[in-house]
Amino acid sequence: MTAPTPLMSLVWTDHVTGRRGFLVVDRLVRGVASGGLRMRPGCTLEEVAGLARGMTVKEALHYDPEARYVPLGGAKGGVDCDPRDPEAYGLLVRYLRAMRPYVENLWTTGEDLGLTQDLVDRAAAEAGLVSSVQAVYPLLDDEATARERLADAFAVVVDGIGLDELAGGCGVAESVLTALDRAAVPYAGTRVAVQGLGTMGGATARFLARAGLTVVAIADVKGTIANPAGLDVETLLAARDAYGTVDRRVLRPGDRELPGDAWLSADAEVLVPAAVSYAIGTGDQERIRARWIAEAANMPVVPEAERLLAARGVTVLPDVVVNSATNAWWWWTLFGDIGADADEAFAHIRRSLRTLVGLVLDRADADGTTPRAAAHALAADRLPVIADRFGWYR
Ligand SMILES: NC(=O)c1ccc[n+]([C@@H]2O[C@H](COP(=O)([O-])OP(=O)(O)OC[C@H]3O[C@@H](n4cnc5c(N)ncnc54)[C@H](O)[C@@H]3O)[C@@H](O)[C@H]2O)c1
Repeated sequence: MTAPTPLMSLVWTDHVTGRRGFLVVDRLVRGVASGGLRMRPGCTLEEVAGLARGMTVKEALHYDPEARYVPLGGAKGGVDCDPRDPEAYGLLVRYLRAMRPYVENLWTTGEDLGLTQDLVDRAAAEAGLVSSVQAVYPLLDDEATARERLADAFAVVVDGIGLDELAGGCGVAESVLTALDRAAVPYAGTRVAVQGLGTMGGATARFLARAGLTVVAIADVKGTIANPAGLDVETLLAARDAYGTVDRRVLRPGDRELPGDAWLSADAEVLVPAAVSYAIGTGDQERIRARWIAEAANMPVVPEAERLLAARGVTVLPDVVVNSATNAWWWWTLFGDIGADADEAFAHIRRSLRTLVGLVLDRADADGTTPRAAAHALAADRLPVIADRFGWYR
């Protein structure tokens, strides 16, 4: 499938460091597009364009004509810098200052790889913005109440982790559980390996461990931590720094430290890439022993690797479906489909993701395609319906 040309692509060069940043708006609905902002060394315009397209699909997949929240268009921002670089914060502020007209008018953004929402909020305020999602405010019936509800939801903490950092992983975990249920595989005894223990990987590991699965390997930027008998997920979560790096001093005697790519070939039924894009290439896929791959990260499996994996019966549960809950949770909360309450949020996410994953897997079975192709086909059915109702650019 060739990607359609995005509505707008922008390359920004920082006048202080010469580093580059990108903004791609793939599509607008009611004049607004949604999509996070990532910071990583080597980030490219092409990567950001792929992610922006994915956001269009993610938004469309959650279209429910009965809901208050109506999907927005898709967008994404990216900055080519290591988030731990001392220059990173100043660069982020300057990037947001440069992007200010877009954030004010048409691009709602938030945390993604390498950035936390707190950091985005702080930098956005320093750049003179009201909020990173202010472009959506004119679409709200009662802006003050909606903003208060979202702020209240952000203040909810569940066992040491903010609700905003749990919503996405709750959706990834529910997607995995739905796939296991369809295959009649019990949760107990099912093993999981995760790449990345940041926002997405951390929350996914928590929800899967709590559902009774055994997390046998977790990789972060420093390497893989593994234990065939199961890792103590909560201890590792509590030992993370702000970038999702685990303090190795908390490891238990049975835990082993392995090279960074060891999570890939772990003896596990489920793999959850939850860190970088392009993590699983054609060479890597041969080493995979898992039956399911749940893409918590965006674009972690390259297309050719996915084809080879499908040929040998490995199901890739695609990013546009499984990691869509963070984005949807923001909008369900802001538009008032749910309140600022963790149980209500998790119940809504579980219901929605279970339905969506079911639809996608049914469609893949019916069409004889991969779940990703099925998800894109579902979105392609919905996009014209959304365009008919709201027009293309209004
Ligand atoms: N945060 C969100 O709301 C959100 C929502 C949907 C999708 N995503 C996607 O999920 C992925 C992760 O985002 P996040 O916000 O959880 O990131 P994060 O910055 O919170 O955490 C990233 C984690 O990955 C690890 N990591 C980074 N580079 C690595 C490497 N080369 N090898 C192994 N581990 C590495 C880090 O140590 C950290 O544990 C990204 O692809 C992002 O686009 C994020």
